[in-house]
Amino acid sequence: MSGAPHGVVRVAVVGLGWAAKSIWLPRLREHPGFAVSALVDPDRAALAAAVHDRTGTLLLTDVDELTPDVADLAVVAVPNHLHAAIACRLLVNGVPVFLEKPVCLNSEEAEQLAAAETGGGSLLLAGSAARYRADVLALRELVANLGHIRHVDLSWVRARGIPDAGGWFTQRQYAGGGALVDLGWHLLDTVTPLLGDVRGDITFDQALGTVSDDFVRSSVARASWREEQSLHAYDDDSAGDVEDTARGFLVTDTGVSVGLRASWASHEPRDVTVIRVDGSEGTATLRCTFGFSPNRVESAELTLTKDGVVTQVPFPVEPIGAEYMRQLDELPALLAAPESRGRAVRETRRTIAVIERIYETARAARATRTARAAAGRRATAAPGPLASAPAAPAAAATSDEPAVAVRIASPVRVDGADVSTNGRAIPAPTHR
Ligand SMILES: NC(=O)c1ccc[n+]([C@@H]2O[C@H](COP(=O)([O-])OP(=O)(O)OC[C@H]3O[C@@H](n4cnc5c(N)ncnc54)[C@H](O)[C@@H]3O)[C@@H](O)[C@H]2O)c1
Repeated sequence: MSGAPHGVVRVAVVGLGWAAKSIWLPRLREHPGFAVSALVDPDRAALAAAVHDRTGTLLLTDVDELTPDVADLAVVAVPNHLHAAIACRLLVNGVPVFLEKPVCLNSEEAEQLAAAETGGGSLLLAGSAARYRADVLALRELVANLGHIRHVDLSWVRARGIPDAGGWFTQRQYAGGGALVDLGWHLLDTVTPLLGDVRGDITFDQALGTVSDDFVRSSVARASWREEQSLHAYDDDSAGDVEDTARGFLVTDTGVSVGLRASWASHEPRDVTVIRVDGSEGTATLRCTFGFSPNRVESAELTLTKDGVVTQVPFPVEPIGAEYMRQLDELPALLAAPESRGRAVRETRRTIAVIERIYETARAARATRTARAAAGRRATAAPGPLASAPAAPAAAATSDEPAVAVRIASPVRVDGADVSTNGRAIPAPTHR
């Protein structure tokens, strides 16, 4: 690997927004196993703001200019609707990719990634850092002593934490969904290792859910830690057509049920993540706060409950964000391991299938309620015997859910600084 000491992974960071600047660049620059060899963003201001040391770092505005001569790995942190398209282009050009979550927005994109990984011969890596948290790793050890696992409840409920309100995160055409694709992806990525899945083989046979949007258009519910300036091309103050809360119920092919709740905002005082695992021999419960929110639980807690006795289980306390460094520690080995090939695609297929199913069932339930309400109105308005037909339940007439559509996107095209999706032109973002 030219330009970097032997054994050091040369990394290009593609997309220089909040995630790159707050998560990846500081840690990649600190980590002895990596050298940042290139930065890519069509927004020249974002490029300039991300430059740390001009010597040796290539600055690019188009991902097609990135080649395996320059980078051994590209960390891709662009807006969600560009994930699959940009990763596919890199993979086909021979550049291995670590792709941020949500890896893709629908099953069609998952298949495009699978084809690009196979066709280009490069490796696709993905995965949420949550599974690398010290408390989650301690929970995993506990779970091994719980006998047969019967049920897992996972919830990540923020008091106020809508990312980039009014920006691309809250617009379905760019984000693909709301709290479910954002926080829910982390939770789905965390649950399967707890069930002993090492290869991404466990599947979910059943999935259903509901979504709601009570907070998404409220400016006071935004994520304070992102310090949004909301100055980019995706901004639309009237926008916010994704859910802020999703609830799901899933069953794996091994018969384990999983309850899921992801909320960007709520009536809670703090941002809290709870994972509770019920086994035949006991229950393990982790209460902590995932992510970077400053409004955290005072101290994370892991307990084991057996025969009515609750025991505190110690685990190492670590600084906020330590899991991302641990994830980086593992990347070089994953990059070199032949068994990594295809794993991200397997996990992605599973995760996106669950997300699609939750959205589909939420949408179908809403359509049923709407039809019932319309039938009730017709019955009330009609003269004669029909007028005495029972009215639809009040809940059906006042939906608490937004219209949810699974976005089956046509392949996203990215042309230099101009990107387009579903035939709609999007100007190159001007970064805040
Ligand atoms: N793992 C985590 O904990 C975590 C946390 C935050 C965000 N994320 C993910 O990271 C991704 C980025 O989020 P963000 O908050 O940084 O968004 P952001 O809007 O702050 O930044 C996105 C950047 O991508 C750039 N971009 C747009 N089109 C591009 C293209 N064609 N080529 C290269 N760059 C392009 C934009 O100019 C912008 O600088 C999202 O998918 C998000 O879900 C993950």
